[in-house]
Amino acid sequence: MKTLVIGSHGKIGRILCRKAAVYELPLRAMVRDTAQASELEGPAVEVVAGDLEGDFAEALEGCDRVVFTAGSGGHTGGDKTLLVDLYGAIRAIEQSEARGIEHFVMVSALRTDRPLEGPPAMRHYFVAKKLADDRLRASSIPWTILRPGRLTDTAGSGRVTTDVSRASGFDISRENVADCIAAALRQPSARGQVVDLLDGDQPIGEIFAR
Ligand SMILES: NC(=O)c1ccc[n+]([C@@H]2O[C@H](COP(=O)([O-])OP(=O)(O)OC[C@H]3O[C@@H](n4cnc5c(N)ncnc54)[C@H](OP(=O)(O)O)[C@@H]3O)[C@@H](O)[C@H]2O)c1
Repeated sequence: MKTLVIGSHGKIGRILCRKAAVYELPLRAMVRDTAQASELEGPAVEVVAGDLEGDFAEALEGCDRVVFTAGSGGHTGGDKTLLVDLYGAIRAIEQSEARGIEHFVMVSALRTDRPLEGPPAMRHYFVAKKLADDRLRASSIPWTILRPGRLTDTAGSGRVTTDVSRASGFDISRENVADCIAAALRQPSARGQVVDLLDGDQPIGEIFAR
């Protein structure tokens, strides 16, 4: 089983690649800039070139699963939100459908189901993430949607909460998100689940138990 990671040189993607051998997950890391390859390559990680704004169909060749953790980032404008977070995600889903991908794990965001309740400057981003999630849910491929809160660079605790109504903060460690992605890929029960994520006290290994 090989998993294509789209957004592999991002902060979550790099943690996934660094821990690939620990997770026992063979990964293919998609990068726009092949100069990033040496940072990602390892015993369980190979690198492929691909750009969500271009042709990346070949990157999926030989992969069974896809993780989407790409993002245009807050430093770009609304045009990139459309091209990467929305249309790039939709094209990744459509190409995964065409290839019969067995599992697609989407890193979405908390509150995407209610975009108009978000801060005005972020509503277009929440709309893009919501529409991508909606497309994935309507797709023919098994999926898991992870909806983390505000991402931090603190070390992972191995524990999160999926009940955000009871959480005191709005943060989650990127390493905890990476560990949740790996758990989703490992556990068949994760398929078909939309899971909100904040740092908490539930062991990550238990969050997809039904
Ligand atoms: N920031 C938050 O608080 C927050 C909260 C909830 C959810 N999220 C979501 O979490 C995910 C990952 O977060 P992160 O902090 O790891 O993000 P990040 O560090 O900004 O990484 C984003 C990655 O996406 C890649 N990317 C951008 N445009 C691309 C394109 N056209 N083709 C291929 N790859 C492209 C970037 O590539 P380069 O390395 O080439 O730039 C980068 O590797 C995103 O989906 C984001 O929307 C973020």
